[in-house]
Amino acid sequence: MSKSGDNVVSEAQIAVHWREEEVFSPSAKFIGQAYASDPAILERFREENFPECFREYADLLTWDQYWHTTLDSSNPPFWKWFVGGRLNASYNCVDRHLASSRDKVAIHWVPEPESESTQAITYQELHRRVNEFAALLRDDCGLKAGDRVTLHMPMVPELPVTMLACARLGVIHSEVFAGFSGGACGGRIADSGSTVLITMDGYYRNGEIIDHKMKADEAVITAEAEGQEVAKVLVWRRHAGQFASQSPMVDGRDFFVDEVLKDYRGQLVDPVSMRAEDPLFIMYTSGSTGKPKGAQHSTGGYLAYVAGTSKYYQDIHPEDTYWCMADIGWITGHSYIVYGPLALGATSVMYEGLPTYPDPGRVWRIAERLGVNIFHTAPTTIRMLRKVGPDEPAKYDYHFKHMTTVGEPIEPAVWRWYYETVGKNEAVIVDTWWQTETGGFMGATLPGLMAMKPGSCGPGVLGVYPAIFDENGEEVDSGSGRAGNICIRNPWPGALQTIYGQPERFVSVYYEKYCRDKDSKDWHDWPYFAGDGAVKTADGYFRILGRVDDVINVAGHRLGTKELESACLTVPEVAEAAAVPVVDDVRGRAVEMYVSLKPGSDPDGVEAKVAKAIEREIGKIARPKKVWIVADMPKTRSGKIMRRVIASISNFSDYGDITTLANPEVVDSIRHHVQSEKMASHDVPRELTFDEIEEINSFGKE
Ligand code: WTA
Repeated sequence: MSKSGDNVVSEAQIAVHWREEEVFSPSAKFIGQAYASDPAILERFREENFPECFREYADLLTWDQYWHTTLDSSNPPFWKWFVGGRLNASYNCVDRHLASSRDKVAIHWVPEPESESTQAITYQELHRRVNEFAALLRDDCGLKAGDRVTLHMPMVPELPVTMLACARLGVIHSEVFAGFSGGACGGRIADSGSTVLITMDGYYRNGEIIDHKMKADEAVITAEAEGQEVAKVLVWRRHAGQFASQSPMVDGRDFFVDEVLKDYRGQLVDPVSMRAEDPLFIMYTSGSTGKPKGAQHSTGGYLAYVAGTSKYYQDIHPEDTYWCMADIGWITGHSYIVYGPLALGATSVMYEGLPTYPDPGRVWRIAERLGVNIFHTAPTTIRMLRKVGPDEPAKYDYHFKHMTTVGEPIEPAVWRWYYETVGKNEAVIVDTWWQTETGGFMGATLPGLMAMKPGSCGPGVLGVYPAIFDENGEEVDSGSGRAGNICIRNPWPGALQTIYGQPERFVSVYYEKYCRDKDSKDWHDWPYFAGDGAVKTADGYFRILGRVDDVINVAGHRLGTKELESACLTVPEVAEAAAVPVVDDVRGRAVEMYVSLKPGSDPDGVEAKVAKAIEREIGKIARPKKVWIVADMPKTRSGKIMRRVIASISNFSDYGDITTLANPEVVDSIRHHVQSEKMASHDVPRELTFDEIEEINSFGKE
């Protein structure tokens, strides 16, 4: 039970099957100042005006050379945007703001320890830091346009500095979330062919300094085992002159950035003029099969898209103080902490640590002190803040005009707490549905023009026309109540260009399923398959139901079941492994692992070994909630593990007909074992919603 104001909200209430929700309208005050308050904008972005409508986004940028072709669709589905154009992303995010806003704060960086003061980095200061580090990358590491560099950095201002320094040179950065293990980082170094790794000695998380450099050593070893030599490891230090790690510096390979930077003081580097379609960065994400995929994003199309959506959907004005609480290690941070807001010349807040450290009021204290008026976070964080401090926001004098949510479906009850308690009934909420692959928002309401509906992201965003298709490629009607696969019918500038180094996989994962004619040169024949289930209501709003592939969304992080299972198989005793989602009231979903052992193996200590293996191969975020050792897995006659049956057992839902299994007799003993232990430890989930039952019952279905 958690308390919200005077009302006691039970978790069971959240579980009530989502009905059609009452809508909320933006306030007159919000509309009065919104960038998009004139419906004419909807006309400008209608399908008849596609693709030229996106000129408006590209015109938010400064081009070294204007483009001649808005969209080149001659080689589907490898779309090219703003062809003929040249620009530099670092110039657009930094240099061009100097003339008018030299002394304006670009980034307020809030360290986790409250005893350390906030750093206010002006555009002038950002320019200096980016230039000096770019000079170092160029002259000390020999990096040049087109080279790839892996970053494994936490939420410190050196991370955007590093990204922008790479962008200045046209070097393609690939930032790996700091919470990922050294091994996971090493795999990404190898896949991207990076010869330089940029990391940090340590950072604060929940009151402790985490030894992060340690992971760099593992990363280099893994990369080398996969055939990629790492020549240099650049180590930023959390406190210059002090080393926060126990791991030794390797002579000739590892360098402290603060020491090397001394040689570059005051140096300026001309931004390299890149073609619009040159890659800006790679961001790895999990999919249903095999290794993580490197989503490759372009310079011109991506930057135009995130600038445009930051302007119209987040409504960031020059006088606003904007705070996106995501981690830059994920796409949200790339698009909506770094590139979008900085392209607009905004003032943005970056926070190092845990939102609940040292107490549940921390977030609201930061908002009050810095005068934040636009706030962006994920449902997981909202659920967490609501659980630990439902009355905290009222104690602080901050006022948001706008709040965003991203990453998972938000339960209507959680939405209402966000609206009433966090937003103090004053702020609009924009629920943004999108993906690593899409670069920016795909489904969202234009806050000054459209009503908000709890639990729905809204219609397709400007210039994006989604549709729901059934398995046969027929469009599912709005208001039919039937769910299907949400697809984007048209190309858009923020879309990934390819999966790095795997163009065939790019085509097969995103475009094969609904392509109408492989020889067609017409984009209308190439809908993008997003991998999410959704329903569309009669008003044109989409409600996202979650992934239709074998991906589990834990606290807004995509974990591939195949990656989890192959990590388990590195434990010598394990014969078979299956990962399933369990409903979790804070993290949305958690992972439970089921493993069966090789004959004659000793089960003692296997649970801990499995958890450890997952932490080593992927990272702490993927740690399973529970590892169940079973004598045998329920299987089909062709030997496929029936994940939906064990998922139902873990969630106490009905697993339906199992008579077609090869070994139906094992189901009852697994159920008895798992459910009696869960009951004994009071770990019985609340009653599931209809949508959740659907998801669990179809989990892993081919
Ligand atoms: C899910 C994060 C419901 C979805 C930007 C998608 C959402 C996956 C929402 C992408 C939302 C994202 N409502 N579900 N507003 N936003 N998702 O690549 O399943 O980390 O496919 O990108 O998160 O996760 P990713």
